[in-house]
Amino acid sequence: MADQAQALRDLIRRRHAASEAAEPSRATRIVTVASGKGGVGKSNFSLNFALSLQKLGRKVLLFDADIGMANLDVLMGVSAPYSLYHLFRGERPIRDIVQLGPGGLHFIAGGSGFRELLHLSEEQLQQADREIERLQADYDFILFDTGAGLSKEAERFIGASHESIIVTTPEPTSITDAYALVKMVTHSRPDASFRLLVNRAADEREGRDTAEKMDLAARRFLGIGLPFGGSVADDPHVGKAVRRQTPFTLAYPDCKASRDVLAAARSYLELPAGDASRTVKGFFHQWFNRKRNL
Ligand SMILES: Nc1ncnc2c1ncn2[C@@H]1O[C@H](COP(=O)(O)OP(=O)(O)OP(=O)(O)O)[C@@H](O)[C@H]1O
Ligand SMILES: [Mg+2]
Repeated sequence: MADQAQALRDLIRRRHAASEAAEPSRATRIVTVASGKGGVGKSNFSLNFALSLQKLGRKVLLFDADIGMANLDVLMGVSAPYSLYHLFRGERPIRDIVQLGPGGLHFIAGGSGFRELLHLSEEQLQQADREIERLQADYDFILFDTGAGLSKEAERFIGASHESIIVTTPEPTSITDAYALVKMVTHSRPDASFRLLVNRAADEREGRDTAEKMDLAARRFLGIGLPFGGSVADDPHVGKAVRRQTPFTLAYPDCKASRDVLAAARSYLELPAGDASRTVKGFFHQWFNRKRNL
């Protein structure tokens, strides 16, 4: 594990050196995965979506941003010695806290002790922002898995990203909570861009129907579109993979859920990117809702 981590760090350093020598900026898309109701499958989707984007040739960094309830490392069956916590504490540069997960996936663990992060100093935030700006040279996608809920935190997170994938199940309670989240965010961030992912659908039709209903309501009452980002079948292989602590796209690549997530990733890459001109500069400042002293 230690050797593997060292090899990864060396690889990232080399790649970074090469990318700095060439063109420094690539159009990295920062994408947040969020939901209104908890337990709808965000973490499983984020993880397997990240692996699917990677399978399609994209460089992806998965970030566990579920404050207090981080569990992507558990879903991957790995233990991460470093987390976001170490980054903010200035104890480690960002490249050192990037971990190597199954399937060669790069990820940053959420870790514990996160509540402390609400009291970060300006200097710590600036340092963290500089670190994440540097990461942009290395990845096509930086994907954030967030905790559930209509919190200010989720709202700021979505506002700081280029776009957000809102996960819902076809159940009415999940749909109304997803709608409430979109409504809340749109109120303070009218330029936020969303896609809707319907998880645990009985079939593709149920997924599309759910998404269409929400899109209609959002157009009518919020004045924004909620494009369909795909649906993922309710599939017993997901639960089995969770118990095996292996991402389902790796444990059961041919199961329905795996094929659905891959299809969602494929169609995601075909759709026009949201507002790519929006900069991710000051990401953590936006997240923690602090003004940046530039
Ligand atoms: N497509 C699916 N088919 C069957 N079961 C699923 C599917 N997606 C998720 N699940 C089940 O739902 C459980 C919760 O999933 P997950 O942890 O990804 O949800 P979450 O939205 O991240 O939860 P939280 O809000 O607590 O972060 C999984 O352990 C799995 O058993
Ligand atoms: Mg989760």
